[in-house]
Amino acid sequence: MKLQLTIFNSKMEVFKTIKSLQQKLSLKGEKITLGLVPTMGALHHGHLSIVKRAKKENDIVVVSIFVNPTQFDKKEDLTNYPRTIEDDLEALQALGCDYVFTPTIDEIYEGDTRSEKFSFQGLDEVMEGLHRQDHFDGVATIVKKLFLITGADKAYFGEKDYQQLLIIKKMVVIESIPITIVPVEIYREKNGLAMSSRNTRLNDDQRHAAPEIYQTLLKSKKLFENSNLARVKSFVKNEFIQNKELELEYFEVADAESLIPATEIIPKKKYRGFIAVYAGEVRLIDNIALN
Ligand code: PAF
Repeated sequence: MKLQLTIFNSKMEVFKTIKSLQQKLSLKGEKITLGLVPTMGALHHGHLSIVKRAKKENDIVVVSIFVNPTQFDKKEDLTNYPRTIEDDLEALQALGCDYVFTPTIDEIYEGDTRSEKFSFQGLDEVMEGLHRQDHFDGVATIVKKLFLITGADKAYFGEKDYQQLLIIKKMVVIESIPITIVPVEIYREKNGLAMSSRNTRLNDDQRHAAPEIYQTLLKSKKLFENSNLARVKSFVKNEFIQNKELELEYFEVADAESLIPATEIIPKKKYRGFIAVYAGEVRLIDNIALN
């Protein structure tokens, strides 16, 4: 995928080792702010909107590109994860990204490809945590390493992975890492489908059907305002029973801070709707603020 972007003239530098990146970063003055955008590559416009935001808010931006083995529960997902490094670098250069960090697995894990075990105080025991074993320990392991390697002032994460975002916020508190976590709004295609590297794996029929996910979330939000929890949940379930291309894995209404699934709606609390849907083999997730 070639992305149409304005070309800036600044020279982007790519680092493969921790030492070389840290050497470069040690040259920046104390007052220079550093923004980090962790990615697994296969960059799309959603990622690029995050990099643009980081560029606006920091003097220097580092984007990491690392397909992290410890967050994949299925080996074939890790093997099949799209790798498009040349296009990624071209897109980042065009955006005026300063530094890109592209380490090998050995550079990061030094021969011990295992996750650290964290306690996220329940945040990982619902939704994605129930369906993807040990996934969040793997995410937190690599993100913590990247925070410590770069010493970034701010790190940016998309709200599409809302549960991941809250878990990273929690990890930073537990580990006392002095960094600000900045959430970035979900970037959607014109038809509402949340941008994801997985969208490229959809066939024509699935692509055509997939915007239904966000349309259903929008309708659930309307219903949430005027109805009760049970009706919202059964409405979403029924929408997908009819659908030949999309199979609902879960829809959950949860407290927007604790992620505890709602059993009743308490006025003044903030809730979000979370959804995971299969289009054939491709698993898509999305979420929406309900109030
Ligand atoms: O959201 C992602 O792309 C990954 O989970 C992250 C945060 C880069 C960690 O590997």
